[in-house]
Formats: sequence, structure tokens, C-alpha cells
Amino acid sequence: TSRQSVVFGVGDPNASLMFVGEAPGADEDRQGEPFVGAAGQLLTKIIVAMGQTRASVYIANVLKCRPDTPGQTFGNRKPRPEEMRTCLPYLLEQIQLIRPRVIVALGGTAVEGLFGLTEARITRLRGSWMDFHGTPVMPTFHPSYILHRESDADRGLGAKRQVWEDMLQVM
Ligand code: URA
Repeated sequence: TSRQSVVFGVGDPNASLMFVGEAPGADEDRQGEPFVGAAGQLLTKIIVAMGQTRASVYIANVLKCRPDTPGQTFGNRKPRPEEMRTCLPYLLEQIQLIRPRVIVALGGTAVEGLFGLTEARITRLRGSWMDFHGTPVMPTFHPSYILHRESDADRGLGAKRQVWEDMLQVM
């Protein structure tokens, strides 16, 4: 009820590489585009490091609307399973239209949303291929996970390296 935009997706509808996140945040809601905030800027850097651009890939989320945080003036919360189920048909159709060769699932919540799981342990799942109706899916850490761990030098670097190893497989 509080969202301003429907954040559908951005990029090349013929992209061979598709990134799927969890839900729009405040910046994304304001601008109507996925992954434009701090995590998005890191995602953009990852995409460029892969030799691609935001315009050559496709970026979407499981949820198309920013989750409400009733009683709060700010804040992010994890999408609820029923919210993800409600939005999943839109994502399914996006995937069917774009027909990417590979999907990168950004974080455990994206994996939960895509596969209808109740709890996806991304630390266990990342780095191994999954299959989404015939399309290979590489689960990896959400870019915000790297950002939150940057203060912790070792773990931050570790997460960054693991994401890069996952992206090497994707490439
Ligand atoms: N985090 C997400 O999962 N998606 C966005 O669009 C922005 C931040």
C-alpha cells in the first residue's frame, strides 16, 4: 500500500544473462528501477567486471513492489512467502520471454522465491548450479551481504571472492 512504483525490470529483453534479486528497496521504489541503491551500484560493478553492462543483461526481482514496513518510516524487510508466490507468475513470464541462458539468483531470498523454498541456506547453496525449468541458476550472495561485511576485512573479502568465483562459472 505504500509503494510508489512497480519495479518491473531493466535491461535487454534478449539478454543471455539475467539477475534476480529479492525486492525493491527505497531507492528502487523511488526511481522505478531495480538495483539502483548501494547494493545495486555494487551489482553494476560486478556486471561490468564480467564484461557486460546493465543494458546488456536483464535485472529483475522476485517482488515487483517494495514490501511495506507498517509503523515504520523506513526499513527493509524480507518478503513474505505469500508475497513471493503472488509475484512469481510475473517473474516466470519475464524468464519465459527473455529466455536467458543463465540466471543468477542474488541471495537466499531470491532462491526461496524462485524455487518456492521456505528456507534457503545461501552459504550452502552458492556456487553450485540449480535448475529452474531447464534454465541453469547460479545462486550467489546478495551484493548487500558483501557490503555489510566490508567492515569485517577478512569475511568481506571472502564473500567478494566467493561471488567472483560464482560469476566465473556463470561466464
Ligand atoms: N535489493 C534487491 O534485492 N533488489 C533491488 O532491486 C535492490 C536491492
